[in-house]
Amino acid sequence: MSLIADWLLRHSVVTCLLLHSLVLMTFCFHNAATSCSKSCYCSESDTGGKTVRCSNMRLTEIPQDIPNDTQRVYLDFNLFTTVPTNAFAGLPNLVELDLSHNELSLLEPGAFRGLGPSLQFLDISSNKLVSFNPEAFDGLRSRANLTNNPWHCDCNLQMALPRVDLEPASLAGIVCKTSDPEETGVQGLAFLLAPAIDLCVVMKRTTDVAMLVVMFGWFSMVISYLVYYVRANQEDARRHLEYLKSLPGIPGKSEESSTISTVV
Ligand SMILES: *[C@@H]1O[C@H](CO)[C@@H](O)[C@H](O)[C@H]1NC(C)=O
Ligand SMILES: *[C@@H]1O[C@H](CO)[C@@H](O)[C@H](O)[C@H]1NC(C)=O
Repeated sequence: MSLIADWLLRHSVVTCLLLHSLVLMTFCFHNAATSCSKSCYCSESDTGGKTVRCSNMRLTEIPQDIPNDTQRVYLDFNLFTTVPTNAFAGLPNLVELDLSHNELSLLEPGAFRGLGPSLQFLDISSNKLVSFNPEAFDGLRSRANLTNNPWHCDCNLQMALPRVDLEPASLAGIVCKTSDPEETGVQGLAFLLAPAIDLCVVMKRTTDVAMLVVMFGWFSMVISYLVYYVRANQEDARRHLEYLKSLPGIPGKSEESSTISTVV
């Protein structure tokens, strides 16, 4: 009896070991085949598009080992503070990129370079963006969700936003936390929906004043030159007249020059 039990036990242990190694092997094989980023989960849809999920992983740097045939990347709920230049270069098939709910305060110039025409949707909502350089979006044609960031609304932002193709929801979701000039009263407003607000007016006014000062300067220079010219000429004419008068016996000519001098 105990012999059979012993055999059974040993057999089951071997089966178990075999199964275990088989599972491990398939896991490794699967991993090698899909070559997923090490801190992410990868899946492939029926249509062959690869999806990489790295959500909520406490990542501080954007993974550089995302497979180059990936179509969707979810990097939301991590701890990224910047998107460095060329962070996603080498992902030519990317259609959707989710960077929402991070600590992003800086998008370096060329941050999304290389993503090009395939990217359709870029989510940078719920971050710490105060302002941005439009060069970060160079070459990008996707719609961007920029809502729920602590935007500092000033002339720079007003100039930069039209250069980005915004998700329609962003129009209502780009709300000013602070503003320059402060007295415009745009704090708490979605200023893209209030086209009457022109945050560049103050700057325009300053340039207007500068133009006026320069023009006034030129004008007064021209006037003083004219005055100087007329005075010098008058002096010349007077001296010439006196010289003519001092000449004996030509009274007619002297009258003639006096009329000339009055004309001048
Ligand atoms: C991905 O990289 C491999 C190897 O470097 C290359 O053969 C392949 O063409 C690349 N695929 C894409 C979509 O760029
Ligand atoms: C844009 O981001 C906000 C905040 O994260 C979210 O609620 C909204 O659904 C997003 N819009 C789209 C179209 O994904």
